Order: sequence, then C-alpha cells, then structure tokens
Amino acid sequence: MDIILKNANVAHRDEPVRNADIAIKGETIAAVEANITAEAGQTIDCGGRLVSGSLIDAHVHLDAVLAAGLERDNQSGTLHEGIEIWTDFKPKRTVEAIKERARRAIDWEVAQGAGFIRTHADVCDDAQLSTQALVELRDELRDRVDIQIVAFPQVGIKSFPGGEKQMRDSLDMGADVVGGIPHNEVTREAGHASVMFIFDEAEKRGLKIDVHCDEVDDSHARFLEVMVEQTFQRGMGASVTASHCVAMHSYNNAYAYRLMGWVARSELNVTANPFDNIILQAREDSYPKRRGMTRGKELLQAGVNVGIGHDSIMDPWYPLGRGDMVDAASLALHVCQMSGVEEIDTCFDMITWRNAQNLGLENYGVASGAQADLVIFDAASKADVLRINPACTHVFKRGQLVSETKPAESTVMGGRVDFTRGN
Ligand code: FE2
Repeated sequence: MDIILKNANVAHRDEPVRNADIAIKGETIAAVEANITAEAGQTIDCGGRLVSGSLIDAHVHLDAVLAAGLERDNQSGTLHEGIEIWTDFKPKRTVEAIKERARRAIDWEVAQGAGFIRTHADVCDDAQLSTQALVELRDELRDRVDIQIVAFPQVGIKSFPGGEKQMRDSLDMGADVVGGIPHNEVTREAGHASVMFIFDEAEKRGLKIDVHCDEVDDSHARFLEVMVEQTFQRGMGASVTASHCVAMHSYNNAYAYRLMGWVARSELNVTANPFDNIILQAREDSYPKRRGMTRGKELLQAGVNVGIGHDSIMDPWYPLGRGDMVDAASLALHVCQMSGVEEIDTCFDMITWRNAQNLGLENYGVASGAQADLVIFDAASKADVLRINPACTHVFKRGQLVSETKPAESTVMGGRVDFTRGN
C-alpha cells in the first residue's frame, strides 16, 4: 500500500463507520476495514477524526472570481449593478488574468477540502475568453482538482443575435455541460425556446445540462416546470440540473408542492447557492423580507437530490467569500432551518455525495475501488464539521497529498481551548 489512514471515522451516506482504516494504492482506495496490517509507504493516524470524500462545489463562476472592485466597486450590492460592472469589465480581461485569478480561488477551495468543481464560463463574448481560460486550467490543475465547465450564456441565448453561435462555440471548444438562463430572455416564449435549444444541444452532443433557472423573485418565473417536462420527454433524468430555483420561494404552496413532486419523479437535480441568493434576492422587498433561497428542505423531503454551490468568490455580485464549502453548507442549514440532527448531517451530504450525484461523478466516496479523493477534518463528525468549520488537515487527490493545514490553537489564560463538547 502507498498510504494507510488509521482510526478514521468514515463519513458515509448514512451512519458513519467508526475506527476504520483506509488503504490507498496508486490513485485508488484499496480497502476500508478495521485493522489493516499491510505495509505502507506512509501511515497517518486519524485518531477518530472524520474522513470524507472530497468536498464538491457544484456551482461557481471561476471566470469572475476575485474580480470584485477591478472595474469599479458595486456600491449598491445589487445583482443589477453587478451585471453592469461585469459587462464593462468583460472585454478588458485577458486569458492569463482570468487564469491567474481562478488559480488562486481554486487553491483556496482545495485547501478547504474541495476536489471537484463545476464552474460556469460566460459565453456571451465572441472571443470566448472565459471558455479558453477554464479549458486550459481544467487540464493544468488536474493534479489537484477535477473541473467541469458549463457553457453559460450570462445575457441569454435567444434574445440577441449570435447567442446560439456563442453557445455552440463554447461547447465546440470543450465545455462539458450545457447551461442557460431562461428567465433572463426577454419574453416567456424566448425563455421557453432557449430551454428547447439547451436540451437539443445536450441531447445531440451527449452532454449534461445545468441551467440558471428562475433566479428571480418573480413568482411567475416558471421555467423549472419546462425543464422537468423536457427531462421526462427525453429521458435525461439525473443528467439535468436546475440551479438557484429561487422563484420557488415565492410560489404559492399548492403550485410549489405539485411541482416538487414532478421534480422528484423526473430525477432532475437542484443546486442551491446560499451566499448569492440570500444577499441578492428580495432587494425590492420591504418587510417582511423574503429569504430568496429555493425550498431546499422541502425539496429534500420530496425526494429531490439537492446540492450546494459557492457561486461567487469576490466577484462583482458578491465581494465576500473564500471558497469555503462548509461555510456555504452552514448558511444553507440556517436559512433552510435544517437544524434537526439528521438534517444537519444532510447539509454535509449536500457538499459531498449529493453534489457527486448531481455532477454525475462515478467512483466517488470512501469505499474500496473509489478514486482516492479524500479529506481528513480536524473534527469527529459531520455535525462538528458544520459547527466548528475545522481545518482540513490533509487533502488527497487521486492518492496524492495535495494540501495540508495545521489546525489553529487558542489558549485562554494559558489553558488550551478545545472546541469539542468534551464528556
Ligand atoms: Fe451562478
């Protein structure tokens, strides 16, 4: 064996497996069982700490990260002003500058446990700078992270000339997933037509779909039902993802519950993006003010696979963030009011195996035969990861140690502070 992790609490879908050893050979997990006695090049004693499959960011815009303030600051903090800033900034970028900013943010994510990232690339640019930069990075950074690229039409596909060509150009250059933004098209008919274009391209090319869907406070934004219907019609099931779906927050309950049943039956995935949604939505509300998140808890209860994305990291829409998926899950936990004991664990699952299912990852998880993409947390349980947000002491990608973090140490009056409850 190359590496053996001893005495781990293994984060599984359901109950954790306590005090297991994990053997890694090459890029693969060779065994997960008690008391592995084989020789190994390196042995790490986990001392009961939680070992999980890599964290997964299911939705981020790596072509915009760290661009906050470069063109000008977003003074109002609104989505509208962010789009104006982005439109002015976009043509001034270079491929190298996009890559440099994205590289930095990717390393932030990796240091905090992420091993898989699905990024959107803005295709509304004839030069396709975003797609080019991210396709290059996908290969260059394969040693530390697996990246999926979504061809994302920030402005829309149908509502201006050349939109369809820009989408096809990005997909021809190597984008992995077909994106969209139907609620941003000028009319409902154009939005509907854009969904048809997205499904046609995906079906023709054998690609997955991930659409910014109903990311508005308007209860009349109902493109999720169109996506569900097309997912059924074409039998595309779990290869389809609807991101955001925040209009669902404002739907009447009768419609929302009927729709959630159809979403579950279609097997379509939903990605929630708590950072951006909570801060950008419902800006026109007075009080009471809507939360602007999709109905994460109720979707899960209906049997829908819901995952989480970071969405923005210091970009024109959101000046904060450090690529911390545990922080994103913690925010979702609070906003969706998922503080039941099992619900807290589910929030951890949303940045691990639920996102893996969302992204269609095969060979994910802490199991014999899986790709050795693992994180050791300086905490013993999923719930403590969410409560403490501990260091990811060791992060492995394909069996290689790619990141190490020393846990912070605090003292009070000379005594070491322990953030566990103790006995
Ligand atoms: Fe997004």
